[in-house]
Amino acid sequence: MVYVIIPAAGHGERFGGKNKKQFLMLADKPVFIHTLLAFQESACIDEIIFVVPEEDLPSTKALIRDYGLPKLKYVIAGGRSRQESVAAGMLLLKEKGQDDDIVLVHDGVRPLVTNTLIGAVVEGVRTFGAVVAARPVTDSLKEVTDGAVIQKSLARERIWAMQTPQGFYLSVLVEACRKGAEDHFYATDEAMLVERLGVPILCIEGPSENIKITTASDLKMAEFLLKNQNDSESVRAERA
Ligand code: C5P
Repeated sequence: MVYVIIPAAGHGERFGGKNKKQFLMLADKPVFIHTLLAFQESACIDEIIFVVPEEDLPSTKALIRDYGLPKLKYVIAGGRSRQESVAAGMLLLKEKGQDDDIVLVHDGVRPLVTNTLIGAVVEGVRTFGAVVAARPVTDSLKEVTDGAVIQKSLARERIWAMQTPQGFYLSVLVEACRKGAEDHFYATDEAMLVERLGVPILCIEGPSENIKITTASDLKMAEFLLKNQNDSESVRAERA
């Protein structure tokens, strides 16, 4: 089985305003519905576990009924951090899954994830064991003081920025989450937890369009990118 856990239980502190970014409209649908549909439509995914803030469980469940999402088997409450929200999904999979099942984790606020990328991550787990979508950085990188004064330059040639999906065998992710919790280690993605087990993780290049919606301008950018995606799809359909 191939599962995907989609954490969307953030409160959007960095976004500003009262609205949680995963529930904002992106074109004709809420951000999280775009994300869920991408995994629903992937032939590589069997079941989806969706994690939301506890107070949004009833409204989310009601909204989801309007979309055809048969692979979405569980909508559960998240925790105070992304790590806790993913752990809530893992608790469930630990009970029902097998060691050699594959688990992907994908941010609820990355609605432009492509079918090709999802397929490449699942295939990557089968061939390499542990895989993350990521991109080589293009900006120059500096380490700075607390007061934002540059201390030194970092060589960017071997630095990649992490995206999601990130994919692992169930047994590996269970152990990584257990160890992270036991050590009170704070992680912003699953690769940080799995790395600590000494398991090699392969980066596969994700498209630059696979953005995480963190600020209001990211939402505008996502609208633009989505329109471009749809326009090129209609051009392809017309040519076919
Ligand atoms: O915190 P960050 O912006 O990296 O969030 C990435 C994803 O993790 C988002 O989809 C967000 O909703 C989710 N998250 C969560 N539970 C939290 C905090 C963030 O599921 N407590």
